Formats: sequence, structure tokens, C-alpha cells
Amino acid sequence: MAISHHHDVLIIGGGAAGLSLALRLADHASVAIITKSPDKDGSTYYAQGGISAVVTEQDSFESHIADTLQAGAGLCDPDTVKFTIEHGPENIQWLQELGVPFSKEASPTGKRKLHLTREGGHSQRRVVHAADATGKALSDTLFNHAQHHKSITFLEEHIAVDLITSSKQGLSTPSNNRCIGAYVLNKRSGRVETFHARHLVLATGGASKVYLYTSNPDGSTGDGIAMAWRAGCKVSNLEFNQFHPTCLYHPEAKSFLISEAVRGEGGRLLLPDGSRFMHRFDERGELAPRDIVARAIDHEMKRLGAACVYLDISHRSAAFIISHFPTIHARCLEFGFDITKEPIPVVPAAHYTCGGIVTNLQGQTNIDGLYAIGEVAQTGLHGANRMASNSLLECLVFAESASQDIIEKLKTPDEKIEIAPWDESRVTDSDEEVVVSHNWDELRRFMWDYVGIVRSNKRLERAMRRINLLQHEIDEYYSNFRITADLIELRNLALVAELIVRCAMDRKESRGLHFSLDYPPAKEDSVAKNTVLTPGVLSNKNNLTNNIKIIK
Ligand code: FAD
Ligand code: SIN
Repeated sequence: MAISHHHDVLIIGGGAAGLSLALRLADHASVAIITKSPDKDGSTYYAQGGISAVVTEQDSFESHIADTLQAGAGLCDPDTVKFTIEHGPENIQWLQELGVPFSKEASPTGKRKLHLTREGGHSQRRVVHAADATGKALSDTLFNHAQHHKSITFLEEHIAVDLITSSKQGLSTPSNNRCIGAYVLNKRSGRVETFHARHLVLATGGASKVYLYTSNPDGSTGDGIAMAWRAGCKVSNLEFNQFHPTCLYHPEAKSFLISEAVRGEGGRLLLPDGSRFMHRFDERGELAPRDIVARAIDHEMKRLGAACVYLDISHRSAAFIISHFPTIHARCLEFGFDITKEPIPVVPAAHYTCGGIVTNLQGQTNIDGLYAIGEVAQTGLHGANRMASNSLLECLVFAESASQDIIEKLKTPDEKIEIAPWDESRVTDSDEEVVVSHNWDELRRFMWDYVGIVRSNKRLERAMRRINLLQHEIDEYYSNFRITADLIELRNLALVAELIVRCAMDRKESRGLHFSLDYPPAKEDSVAKNTVLTPGVLSNKNNLTNNIKIIK
């Protein structure tokens, strides 16, 4: 028998965005959160550096706004930046009230105050953190609260397959389309279940797994972006894929991140001969924004034929290093590197998806009833390059604003809508799972080679031809065989790869994280435009629209 669930709000994703939203809604609505894996599985859990916010008298909103706009290379939406930054302090206060164990230090009055660290692009110390494991502290606290709330239902190992909209169900036209639920694969039973919800929130994180080397956990497969696109959402700025400059270079380290806070606390980047090089690329040296540092490393590695560069903080005392970076210190030791004594080998890896589903300041997409918050969204905060530690801030602020909008809308009476159950009458079990694993590997490798830190028109065309071939094969497989989690993710990754390349092809300039050998860097005062893709509209130069102010 087909299984169906009914909730006021279905949140897909249990990272910082999804968990904070659930907590903010729980006294007003019945909420279900679904996640793909049994554990805390999103990027949030792995966040190191911290959360940026203006929390001292020496700092100011104006300064945080100016730094964010500068890192974003002309593409941030100034209203979104102001909105997000001004809501920072109250969100840090909220987290402190929930009990997140942020690092503290003694103040001149003797009272303990938040310790603030520094990262690239920030002109001030303004990053609130819990040593170098901020994400774990945040996830554990939010999860513990959410788990004990009677209005929140947690369903782990449930992977959303597709959104259900009124227009796809034949109940409305695309112009008054509404999201009414989702089909979800229960990984334990292998069956697809139907979730009915008055409001549905995508909090599914980013898509950095589209690249061979990434700091992200395995689940960052862009599912939310792909589902939203198939449902009719606009997506934007997907060419801006952020590569973190410093991930540990070791065959078994799976691109373990070495926090930017290491450079914030004095860490130096070195070439294999021990010389520093960042000052040749930017006067801010090691603390230039990430796009500049990652590109400089890539340039030097290619110039010298080097497999990696080195990061050295061993000039600071061992006690300082171990108290500020206990996780990084311990993990590096496991691979035979002692950061208190020696430089460690580092390389860039895909880290953050700056583009995503277009939303307004309440996280609402262009489909009624459908919200997107956190890394999956494109709110206008990050522009062409996200500044460090602005992502967790965005998750928190947009969870708060989306919750207020949803609570208001829940006051209108509910409308019962019948949804057709998932149909798998025409599929059989797959006979060749190898097709899925092979295509995963192939996709991620050519995306790294052709759509990485440095791009060209020719490389993008090569990537697009391969994506089209893979998509053809994946679609055939998807229509004939019973779905699995791997197949769902592969199908989503291939679609997101296509959208990334389409956005990259539309941008006829180098700007921020998108660097093409065929176009010179955009002039600082040039007019900056977002790349917006609309489902059903072919990619062309008209997709570049002025800095967007959208939706109601
Ligand atoms: P995530 O935390 O990624 O959670 C996504 C959730 O969605 C997961 O629960 C997943 O299971 C679920 N999901 C996805 N698809 C589906 C599906 N189809 N069905 C069901 N569930 C699904 N940012 C900062 O601001 N400061 C930092 O210090 C920082 N450090 C970082 C360090 C690392 C190593 C990484 C990888 C990122 C870091 N970032 C940092 C970025 C930041 O952590 C992320 O952008 C942010 O945590 C994203 O939160 P989220 O809630 O949007 O998604
Ligand atoms: C880091 O600690 O370097 C990651 C910070 C971020 O991605 O914002």
C-alpha cells in the first residue's frame, strides 16, 4: 500500500538552515525534516572557521557590508547584504541562548566575551567560532533541541526524489503553480512515499560534489537545485563555484579542510622552495578573498609543475595552535603532519556553491509554497564570490525570515489536495549498477578538468558535449529501472553540471570565481549582471539580467 505523510511544513535537509527553521517553526506548525543519511550529514557538521557577525563596538554593519560587497566582485545585491548582516547579531544571541559552546576569552572587565577570529576578505576580527569545529558545535546544539520538540518529526535516510506541484498534477496552469509536496525514497524500505505539505522548504545544501576534489561531504549533490529546476524554479549564478584554497594534500585525506582561520591567525602560504608568494598576487597577501588565493595557488602549481603548495603556522606557539585548531592538529597528525612543527601540503578543492535557486528575502522561490534557504539558495548575498563565514550566517538569517513568512501564511485555511502516488509499474530492478558508478566518476573528473578554477570556451563546450551524452544515458536508465539513492544523486549532479556550464557559457567576462582564459577580468566599475536561467527558456545572452529584485 502507498504510504503518505501529512505535515504543515516539510523541510528537506537537516543542516544549519533546515534545523534552525524547524526550531523557529515548531511552536506554530507540525514540521517534518528529512535527511539523506543516518547521521548529521550536511556541510554544516564540518564547518570549521565560524559565523561572521558584528558583535563588538569596534566593528560596524557598514564595515561588514563593505567587505562582503568587495569580495562579491560587483554582483552582491546590496539590499540582501544589508538585511543579512543587520540580522547577524540577533542570530548569534539566539544561538548563545540555545547553548552553542562558542569560544570565549577574558575581557578587560574580567567578564568572558566571545573570541573572534579573522578570515580572508574581512577587515576586522568578526568570526564567532567554537575552536575549529564550529559546525559540529552548532549541529549538535540545534539537533538536540529539535529532537526533543514534539512538533518536529525526524526522518533520516529519506531522500527526496522530486517536488510535487499543482501544475504537474494537472491541477493548475504553470502561471498559478504551487508546490504541494514531494516524492521521497525511504532508503530503508526501498519504497517511494508521498509527503503532503502546505509549505515545502529546500535546505539541501550545495553541489560541490560535482567536482572530483571537494571539501564537502558525499551528500552535496545539488539535489535541491535539480528538483527546483525540474519543478519550474529560476536558478542563478551557478558559474560561481568556490574553491577553498587550502585542503590537505594526501591521498587518503579526502580533501580535509584546513580552515582559513589558520591564515587569519598568521599562517603563511609557501612554494616548495619555502618562499612566500601571495604578496605577488594581492596586497592583502594570505588574507585576500578566496577566489584570488585559490587562483594564485593554481597558477603557481601549474607554473612550477608542483603537486601542492604548503601552509605554515609553526612560527606560532604549540599551545596557541593546539588550543585554536585542535581538530586540524589532530587530523593532520593522523596523516603524519605536525602543524606545530612543520609546513603542511595543501591544494584547492571545490567548497561552496554561490549560485542556486533564486529567492527573495523571505527565502521564497518563484513557485508558491516553495522556499529555499541556506547554500541551495541564491539570495544575492554572495555575488560572484562568497566571503568566508558568511554562509552559516545566511543559513540562520534566512531560516528566521522564512519562518516568519510561513507562520503568517499558515493562518489562511488549508486546502486538501489529492496527490497521485508514485508510479513504478513500468520499471524493473537494475541489471548493471556499474553504469551509475562509472558515470559518477566520469562526470566529476571532466567537471574538475574543464569547469574548474580556470575555464575557457573550448573547455566549457567539451564539458557540455559530455554532459549531454551522460544525461541521455541517465534518462534512459531512470525510465527503465527502479530508482536508488545513487541514481537519484547522479541524475541531479548531471543536471546541475549542465546548469553550471550553461551559466558559465552565458558569462562573457571573468568575474569573481568565474575565470575564463577567453575573457579579461571585468573592470571594477563595469555593470555587473546576474546569470539567470528559467526552465523552458533556452540559454542565451538574454539570461544576463540586472541585479535581481524578484518575486512579490
Ligand atoms: P547542509 O549543512 O549541507 O545540509 C544539507 C542537508 O540536506 C543534509 O541534511 C542532507 O542530508 C540534506 N539533503 C540534501 N539533499 C537531500 C535530498 N534529496 N533528500 C533529503 N535530504 C537531502 N561556512 C561558514 O559560514 N563558516 C565556516 O566555517 C564554514 N566551514 C566549512 C567547512 C567545510 C569543510 C565545508 C564543507 C563547508 C564550510 N562552510 C562554512 C560552508 C557551510 O558549512 C555550508 O554552506 C552550510 O553549512 C550549508 O548549510 P545548509 O543547511 O544549507 O546545508
Ligand atoms: C574555513 O574555515 O576556512 C571555512 C570557512 C567558510 O567556508 O566560510
